[in-house]
Amino acid sequence: MTTEHPKTAFITGANKGIGFEVARQLAKRGFAVFIGARDIAKGRAAAQSLCDEGYESTFIALDVTDPLSIKQAAGTFSQKASHLDVLINNAAILEDHGENIMKLNAELLDRTLKTNVTGPMMVTQDFLPYLQKSEGGARIINVSSDVSSLQTMGTYAPAYSISKTALNAITKQFAAALTSPPIAVNSVSPGWVRTDMGGNNANLSVEQGAETIVWLATDAPATETGKFWRDKKEVGW
Ligand SMILES: NC(=O)c1ccc[n+]([C@@H]2O[C@H](COP(=O)([O-])OP(=O)(O)OC[C@H]3O[C@@H](n4cnc5c(N)ncnc54)[C@H](OP(=O)(O)O)[C@@H]3O)[C@@H](O)[C@H]2O)c1
Repeated sequence: MTTEHPKTAFITGANKGIGFEVARQLAKRGFAVFIGARDIAKGRAAAQSLCDEGYESTFIALDVTDPLSIKQAAGTFSQKASHLDVLINNAAILEDHGENIMKLNAELLDRTLKTNVTGPMMVTQDFLPYLQKSEGGARIINVSSDVSSLQTMGTYAPAYSISKTALNAITKQFAAALTSPPIAVNSVSPGWVRTDMGGNNANLSVEQGAETIVWLATDAPATETGKFWRDKKEVGW
């Protein structure tokens, strides 16, 4: 059975943190949300908690570092929905707090790039056929970071920072490629958010961190593409 819902959203890494909050806010706005998560128990629990709030939410197993898992997730999605309106590449890792580029471990860099760059690219490729079936104009949102910016880049977390710069390049490439039918592809920085990744000292709540992502998925003009956003305003790369 495919869902009759007019709007669908698939969010990667949505079992917790910003991804889960984005799923909750989109569900609240009438989207049927699909929770992509690599941990089956946590993913099921996240989807169930949204169902308990009265929303339409489905768990889909997804490890963004595993090409087969991504293909299976796309296959599972196609059995449950006819089209995809919003893809949010949110899943990411940050493992190099306190690392220095001069001694950066190459395996750590590879692992980070695999999750934060190659993963979103493969997820986008495999979900593209369903995005192309969206009638209202599909949107892809890549969750980036302030530290991706080449204008302000310093020494902070080199593997993570480099990965988010590369993710921004993925945004530009897909935005340039996806013109017919037009699909809006944008990068967004959520700011510094209190999650497992952001820590307790961050200045923003998950609700605040989700705000611009949800705006790009819904109210932002669909003609805006190939840009980098923060606080609902375009910012420099
Ligand atoms: N928090 C901040 O201050 C901040 C600032 C700038 C940008 N961001 C970005 O915002 C996004 C969400 O971050 P967050 O703060 O919500 O982080 P988080 O709480 O650590 O959540 C990250 C999510 O990504 C998932 N994930 C990691 N590797 C995965 C994989 N291989 N396959 C599938 N899922 C995977 C995690 O799953 P598990 O639970 O299984 O680990 C988790 O659901 C990320 O892209 C991050 O870079 C965050």
